[in-house]
Amino acid sequence: MRITIFGASGLLGNALMREWSDDAVTGLSTRDVDIRDAKRVQQTAQETRPEWIVLAAAYTDVDGCESHPDLAFAVNRDGAANVATAAKLVGARLTFLSSDYVFDGKKTTPYETGDVRNPQSVYGRTKAEAEIKLLELMPDCCIVRTSWLFGSGGKCFPDTILKLAASRPALDVVNDQRGSPTFAVDLARAIIQLCRKSATGIVHATNSGNCTWFEFAQEIVRSAGLATTVRPASSQQMARPAPRPAYSVLSPTPLQALGIEMPSWQDALRRYLEQRERPASHVVS
Ligand SMILES: NC(=O)c1ccc[n+]([C@@H]2O[C@H](COP(=O)([O-])OP(=O)(O)OC[C@H]3O[C@@H](n4cnc5c(N)ncnc54)[C@H](OP(=O)(O)O)[C@@H]3O)[C@@H](O)[C@H]2O)c1
Repeated sequence: MRITIFGASGLLGNALMREWSDDAVTGLSTRDVDIRDAKRVQQTAQETRPEWIVLAAAYTDVDGCESHPDLAFAVNRDGAANVATAAKLVGARLTFLSSDYVFDGKKTTPYETGDVRNPQSVYGRTKAEAEIKLLELMPDCCIVRTSWLFGSGGKCFPDTILKLAASRPALDVVNDQRGSPTFAVDLARAIIQLCRKSATGIVHATNSGNCTWFEFAQEIVRSAGLATTVRPASSQQMARPAPRPAYSVLSPTPLQALGIEMPSWQDALRRYLEQRERPASHVVS
């Protein structure tokens, strides 16, 4: 297959580029094409002639979206529509990356793919509106909702915790938001399988299991063998510009129905930390 990936320079994009073999893959970043530019997106699709497009490009700074909503909607919703229109033009199928933040976090059991969207942040709204627009433009597209991405090739939570733990004896981390951490490598592998299986509709793809950010940080510090104390904090104490859902665990049922199982987040974290270089001075003897 000929595959074109928008957002190939990001966290997920990097993993997709590394994991995807046996197909002809073209990876694009903003340097190649800005998805806000509809004409340029169409031209790119005509040049690369993909059979499948993976749209991982997005403005992902959740707090930045609150202060720059016009940019957020222009990239995440209108840019996504530009890519879908171009996909239609060249007869390509489309996989679009969406987020757990399309939900309000009021549930206490995993969100099903058909649950009502009720985003609480600008970022969540851009993703929810993009989903609706894409399903209108291309009913057979595949929407992959994921959450709490980590991996190499971009800023991620484990790296932040390890960096902070290197210079502080204690860290306060939010303990009232629960979700599923997701290793970009595992997500990339799931996306590749979804494309090969010609999946359509909405699926949820995260590592299995769930935790709070506090529990995630505890596991990171413990697995890295660091002595830093991790203390539970509330979202109110650690106020951020964008509200986050208190609970955003995503049900894997449709993914499992396609025969795709995701490893646990603890296993994923172990593999990530193994592949990541660990500074010797942070290790407790
Ligand atoms: N990170 C998470 O925790 C998380 C959670 C749920 C869902 N998601 C979704 O998963 C997808 C991948 O996320 P990620 O964390 O890998 O993102 P990321 O690391 O922030 O990378 C974003 C990518 O989008 C590209 N991009 C940004 N603005 C663009 C524009 N106007 N035109 C073309 N390309 C543009 C960037 O290119 P440059 O490098 O050239 O700027 C980069 O390749 C996104 O759709 C995101 O919303 C992420």
